Amino acid sequence: MKKITSNVKPIIYEPAGADEVCKPRLLVLDQRLIPYEKKYIELKTYKDVISAIKDMVVRGAPLIGITAAYGMALAVRDVVKTCHGKSLCEELSSIANEIKNARPTAINLNWAVDLIMNDVRAIHELPVHEAINAIEKRAIWIHEDDEMRCQKMGEYGAHMIETCGHKSVLTICNTGALATGGIGTAFGVILTAYKKDPSIKVFAAETRPRQQGARLTTFEFIENGIDCTLISDTACGYLMKKGEVDLVIAGADRIASNGDTANKIGTYQLAVLAKENNIPFYIAAPLSTFDLSIKSGEEIPIEERSHEEVTHINGETICTKGVKVRNPAFDVTPAKYISGIITEKGILSGDYKSSIKNAFNETVIA
Ligand code: MRU
Repeated sequence: MKKITSNVKPIIYEPAGADEVCKPRLLVLDQRLIPYEKKYIELKTYKDVISAIKDMVVRGAPLIGITAAYGMALAVRDVVKTCHGKSLCEELSSIANEIKNARPTAINLNWAVDLIMNDVRAIHELPVHEAINAIEKRAIWIHEDDEMRCQKMGEYGAHMIETCGHKSVLTICNTGALATGGIGTAFGVILTAYKKDPSIKVFAAETRPRQQGARLTTFEFIENGIDCTLISDTACGYLMKKGEVDLVIAGADRIASNGDTANKIGTYQLAVLAKENNIPFYIAAPLSTFDLSIKSGEEIPIEERSHEEVTHINGETICTKGVKVRNPAFDVTPAKYISGIITEKGILSGDYKSSIKNAFNETVIA
């Protein structure tokens, strides 16, 4: 199948010149400004990377992992000059923990940093230049690897949409190029399906409180020439009941070994509404989003973010001063509501415990 690409690039890494005169540059698109402005900012140190992840300059599970990997590559460069052997590993492992704590729910962050740390343990005997190059190479690999995973998910998901004859898709949050290293997870599936059949109708739920659906997903659909309709989160049930939605696809931030899936707050209620209305509900996520160390969604840490995200819109308060607020940023959809999980290895379904195990054992499912 022809490679599908996106017109949106959230992260650019420029390696150092061979002579080391030019330092590497890590540029990220400031997602807080989209859709008003497209502005790249440079992250110069791993501390900048942590702030960018915490403040949601970059967001989306796979992209957080990729940015963290580049953050480790920047850190190695600084640390390797002063530390050697054991102290290099110790210093980097404390930086790795700092980076991993930037956001708690998306497991891709831990996955990417742990991959880098495995390499660090192997390279500490190497000359400085080789060590720096090896870690940088791994970070670039993590980025490119995610692009390939998105491509595959897109193909499997689009094939399912075509064979099941689905004509209208609802999605939540942002799961496109702005959230990944490629065309996206759920977004990538929709993009691939749309390229084959432009008559597919696409609904984007606004995704309160940060409005990733309204601000980012509609931006990406429009940048890629896809006709989409924005709806408020509260309109989803109404449109499902009216028969205007025949498939729901969401991304994921962490999937437990039994298939329970954490994703943006509001995903769980969509899954329940989908079941009530006999609409298939799919998750699209690469294997780097699975956490096999946990048995169920009960063990997934859920990030609670600042109250201002709920009480304010564009800096203006929308509620009475002093009101109590809760702002969980994610929820967990129990596996029983999920019709299938679209991965780069195929579509997992049925008994998730065994289909997930098979996917990790290199069995191609679809
Ligand atoms: O808080 P965010 O914007 O980082 O949350 C992002 C999501 O919940 C996405 O749906 C998820 O990361 C899957 S994306 C590829």
